[in-house]
Amino acid sequence: MQTSVTTIERFIVDQEHRYPEATGELSNLLYDIALAAKLIAAAIRRAGLVNILGTAGHRNVQGEEQQKLDVFANETIKNCLNHTGRVCVMGSEEDEDVIPVPPEYPVGKYAVLFDPLDGSSNIDVNSAVGTIFSIYRRVSMEGRGTVTDVLQPGCKQVAAGYVMYGSSTMLVYTTGQGVHGFTLDPTIGEFLLSQPKIVTPRLGQYYSVNESNFWRWDKGVQTAVRGLKGDMPDGMQPKNSRYIGSLVADFHRNLIAGGIFLYPADNRNTGGKLRLLYEASPMAFIAEQSEGSATDGINRILDIMPTSLHQRTPLVIGSREDVGFVADTIRRVAARNSGATVQPTL
Ligand code: AHG
Ligand code: MN
Ligand code: MN
Repeated sequence: MQTSVTTIERFIVDQEHRYPEATGELSNLLYDIALAAKLIAAAIRRAGLVNILGTAGHRNVQGEEQQKLDVFANETIKNCLNHTGRVCVMGSEEDEDVIPVPPEYPVGKYAVLFDPLDGSSNIDVNSAVGTIFSIYRRVSMEGRGTVTDVLQPGCKQVAAGYVMYGSSTMLVYTTGQGVHGFTLDPTIGEFLLSQPKIVTPRLGQYYSVNESNFWRWDKGVQTAVRGLKGDMPDGMQPKNSRYIGSLVADFHRNLIAGGIFLYPADNRNTGGKLRLLYEASPMAFIAEQSEGSATDGINRILDIMPTSLHQRTPLVIGSREDVGFVADTIRRVAARNSGATVQPTL
């Protein structure tokens, strides 16, 4: 029988002790998010029971109104963060504008962005979904936090992470000191350290992309994806294909096993589909902290200066050599079309 485990709380405190000037606010904010994750995980585990337990007027056994899970996840995160005095403003995929801290509560020094339920179309088919979060230090000088506090480039993030509600619930996060993974032990309700210091392979075995968009991509992306399949002389070894349609689950598999995820721009989603602030940027921070990389095809994701809360971006993310291959191929094809020459990124 094991008698010593590292809980997420102990791990965060131990990390923080390396910085004498730290106040503990960021640690507490991360516990607040871990609590929200446990509440959401509990609801997701019962998702298939909603209709069974909530037949009478869509009320559950406690007599509460049933909510769609992405609304539930959104409200849960807001309620776990808005009263603590650690947050000045929030931004969520589910809210059009930034979310202020209610006037009866104090504000703190962090701005938090989140995708409360990522891959939500997977809920109905009992597949993996997730939550993504991103934390910035406040930059506005007075008042209660504004949109400027969330419109910061990804390189300014102080922490980012995701929760994956899969066969087990995992929380993976970084504060810029490597990437660490915790697994929820449902018997004691604690996240326990299961994967310290995750390093992603330099060259991956999987590629993950919605290939039904193939004919909507430009030539550079088409050539790169054919290359990932091995259809390029002197290109790469062919990779295996895996795609769930849930960024968190697709990214997580590639982080651990090595691989590349792409959601390029196409002629329907001309600026890409995924959102910069609460999907691409936090995942890019994690990718880089695990020795992978992330680009929009031209720019490093973490360097992009956002101009609006729900801005979209193309995303190519994962194992460093694979991302380099795709970025180089896109640039090479663009240069060939314009007659210029290019230097490789790696
Ligand atoms: P969300 O459920 O938060 O709207 O995100 C869905 C996203 C992302 O998780 C996934 O990678 C992508 O949409 C899948 O899109 P396609 O169905 O177009 O492949
Ligand atoms: Mn999403
Ligand atoms: Mn979502």
